Amino acid sequence: MAVTSPDVFKLGFVGAGNMAESIARGVVKSGVLPAQAIRTSHHREDRRAVFKSFGVEILESSGQVVSDSDIVILSVKPQVAKKVLLELKPLFSDDKVLVSIAAGIKLTDLQEWSGQRRIIRVMPNTPSAVGVAASVMCMGDMATKKDEERVVSLFGAIGKIWMADEKYFDAVTGLSGSGPAYIYIAIEAMADGGVAAGLPRDLALSLASQTVLGAAAMVSNTGKHPGQLKDAVTSPAGTTIAGIHELEKGGFRGTLISAVTAAAKRCRELSN
Ligand SMILES: NC(=O)c1ccc[n+]([C@@H]2O[C@H](COP(=O)([O-])OP(=O)(O)OC[C@H]3O[C@@H](n4cnc5c(N)ncnc54)[C@H](OP(=O)(O)O)[C@@H]3O)[C@@H](O)[C@H]2O)c1
Repeated sequence: MAVTSPDVFKLGFVGAGNMAESIARGVVKSGVLPAQAIRTSHHREDRRAVFKSFGVEILESSGQVVSDSDIVILSVKPQVAKKVLLELKPLFSDDKVLVSIAAGIKLTDLQEWSGQRRIIRVMPNTPSAVGVAASVMCMGDMATKKDEERVVSLFGAIGKIWMADEKYFDAVTGLSGSGPAYIYIAIEAMADGGVAAGLPRDLALSLASQTVLGAAAMVSNTGKHPGQLKDAVTSPAGTTIAGIHELEKGGFRGTLISAVTAAAKRCRELSN
C-alpha cells in the first residue's frame, strides 16, 4: 500500500496575537503541522512565552519570520497592516504565500503593499479559540491549488472554512465575524429569562448556552431548513409558539437582519 508523506511546510505568523495563537494551537493540536514547523516573533516576552510553551519557534523579527516561512499569515491589526507589509516587502518572493486575516484589507492592497502575488485572504472568527471557527477564504489571482489546499487544512484545524468571492467579505464580516457577539447577547438574555422564570443563574446560563449549541448542531448536522425545525417543535396552542409570538412582536428577526446589514455596512465604510 502506498504511504503518502504528510505535507510539511513552514508556517510563520506576523503578529503573535490572539488570532495567531488560536490558529497555531489548532494546527498543532490537530496534527496538521508539528509545532517546530511554526514560527513567530513578538516584542513582548509574555507573547513569546505563550507561543514557546507549545513548541512554536520564536525568531528575532517579523523579517526573519517571512524569510524562514513558506506560508506567512498576516495577523496584525488592520490599522498597522500597511506599515508592516511595506517594511516586509523586500523579503517576500514568489515561492511564498501571503495569507491575510486582517479584517477589511483587500487583495489589491495586500498585493500593492507586500509586492507578493500569491495571496489568500481569510476571514475567521473568534470561536477559533475553541475549534469551531466559521472562516471564509478568497484567492488572489496567482495563488495555486496547492496553496488553497494548505490554507484549507490550516483553517480546517480551527473549525470550518468556505470559499467565497471577495465581494462578499463585508457581508461575511457582518454575519460570522460579528455574529458571535449577537449570540452572546441572546444567550445572556435567555439566561435572564430563565432567572426571571425562577431558575438559579448558573443553571439558566448553562441551559441557554447548551440550547444554542444544540440548535446550531441541529441546523448544521441535519441539513434541515431552520423553519422546518421550528415548525416541528411548535405544537398547537403549546408553549413554544407562545414564546415565538413574543419574539415576533419584539421584531426578533428584523433586528437580527438589521444587525448583520449594519455591521456589513460599517465594515465597508472602514475598508474604504
Ligand atoms: N478577533 C477576531 O474576531 C478576528 C476575526 C477575524 C479576523 N481578525 C483579524 O485578525 C487580526 C488579529 O486580530 P487579533 O484579535 O489577534 O489582534 P491582537 O491580539 O491585537 O494581535 C495582533 C498582534 O500583533 C502585534 N503587533 C502590533 N504591531 C506589530 C508589528 N508592527 N509587527 C508585528 N506584530 C505587531 C500586536 O502586539 P501589541 O499587542 O503589543 O501591539 C499583537 O500581539 C486582525 O487583523 C483582525 O482584523 C480578527
